[in-house]
Amino acid sequence: MSETIAQQLASRLNAALAKTDFAHDMPEGFSAQIDQAQNRQFGDYQSNAAMILAKQLKRNPREIATAIAGTFDGGEFSEKPEIAGPGFINFRLTTTALEERFKALLDDPALLGVAQVEVPQTIVTDFSAPNVAKPMHVGHIRGTIIGDCLVRMSRFIGNNVVSDNHIGDWGTQFGMIIWGWKNLLDKSAIEADPIPELLRIYREVNAKQKDDAELAEACREELVKLQGGDEENLAIWEKTIEVSKIGLQKIYDRLEIEFDYWLGESFYNSQLAPLVDELMAAGIAEESDGAICVFFPDDEKMADKPAIIRKSDGGFLYATTDLATIDYRIKQLKADAAWYVVGAPQQLHFDQIFEISRRRGQNADLQFIPFGSILGKDRKMLRTRSGDTVQLADVLDEAVERAYQIVDKKNPDFSEKEKRDIAEVIGIGSVKYAELSQFRMTDYIFDWDTMLALKGNTAPYLINAYVRTRAIFRKLGSDFEPGGAITLTADAEKDLVLKLAQFSETVPAALSDFRPNTLANYLYELATTYHKFWEACPVLKEEGAVRETRLALCELTGQVLRKGLGLLGIRTTEKM
Ligand code: ARG
Repeated sequence: MSETIAQQLASRLNAALAKTDFAHDMPEGFSAQIDQAQNRQFGDYQSNAAMILAKQLKRNPREIATAIAGTFDGGEFSEKPEIAGPGFINFRLTTTALEERFKALLDDPALLGVAQVEVPQTIVTDFSAPNVAKPMHVGHIRGTIIGDCLVRMSRFIGNNVVSDNHIGDWGTQFGMIIWGWKNLLDKSAIEADPIPELLRIYREVNAKQKDDAELAEACREELVKLQGGDEENLAIWEKTIEVSKIGLQKIYDRLEIEFDYWLGESFYNSQLAPLVDELMAAGIAEESDGAICVFFPDDEKMADKPAIIRKSDGGFLYATTDLATIDYRIKQLKADAAWYVVGAPQQLHFDQIFEISRRRGQNADLQFIPFGSILGKDRKMLRTRSGDTVQLADVLDEAVERAYQIVDKKNPDFSEKEKRDIAEVIGIGSVKYAELSQFRMTDYIFDWDTMLALKGNTAPYLINAYVRTRAIFRKLGSDFEPGGAITLTADAEKDLVLKLAQFSETVPAALSDFRPNTLANYLYELATTYHKFWEACPVLKEEGAVRETRLALCELTGQVLRKGLGLLGIRTTEKM
């Protein structure tokens, strides 16, 4: 079952086109597309091919549609197509076809109908990548959660995905941090909880040096010493990286996110000078006012925005490091593609380095996958009451605490451990789902009440739908037994089977334009479709094939919900 329903219908539709009287007048290579219907009342799938062809052939679209419907052979698979509106062709699957799909899905618990890529690609994913010695703030949540979801989906369809946390572990902030470490450090604080202490010294020095030229100079000297390889400064730098990584790892553990590599910016230091020389020799970079730049005269957007790759004082930049990073990923990690999940303000930076990479003759598929901002209820950047940026660790704590209150109220008799475990799943899941159910470019409003609501497009609603699919087997007293007879009788059953089958169309669609919200919204629709089935179709009261079929529907819905939520990085629980 590697073909989706849409693909099977499309082959039949294209075969029908080839048999029409206008087959030879169609544009070369014309291939008709099939879309899922919005409303099952009019069919399961539809095509606007007749309208497109009518325009090109200068004929009446309904007439074209009728001709296609006439040559269409649905076999056992689909009913005779219907024409609607200006010339849509609507398709409806036969009950037999739905039953066959359903059985095939039950036999495929690992993939649930999702096809594997024919040629797996090696894809390096670059996401999260916070700057060291600063805590991750709520803005980092977007890239971290979206990136992780893309990794999970892409691995699921069979790609070889390498995740790399390109942390900002080198740069001017280290002059200030090292000066602060030497002069302001509270030793016991750094041992107890390093990140807040690092943040404290960074903030203090940063604020002071703004109107203290002497201090600013002292920081710059510390930075120059670090860059020159001074042992003491290198040791402090290493220590700050080490403690920062430990702090970051705690958050990733909680989010259940793992990186294959942590190749931070500093990893590429030794490669920057030779790279700049190479770009000069190749005529790609040139000197301008003492700096080394790459110009983009032919690109309208970048014509007046050169990329600087070496400053006149000899220092290298963010762009230089990223160019070296691309080299490493292609040569050492054997990347066919690299995906960068980074905030939208870095668009120009990535346009530039991708263009330079092309000029160097590299042909890896480089994708910039931007995202917008998280806003507070006032539609401004989210801040704490005291005006600071909101820290990610605090957000996770609060989400879990709020989820605990809900679980406790709903199930006062659960054990304390059970309540805590469920609260962790729901709290973390809610934060992730609030992110993943939005289109990534949308600036979304961070609101506890909506994200933790038990109704609506939320994680608690979806997890609860999963819990319901499990409850029936608890009532039954045993797990699902595969292999029973399958017969679809009620409309609500057919609606549900069709939705379940569309999981295989959803995952590739979500990946094709890097939109986890396509998957999130699918799961929400699946949960509501299940809900309707649940209301309309008694299960345990029935007998024979009807009962078997409905039990199988509960089981499969549970499997797809758990797998789908798992691809979003969200866990399920058996009770809530
Ligand atoms: N550290 C950067 C930041 O916080 C993000 C790095 C993104 N990845 C990259 N290869 N440039 O803005």
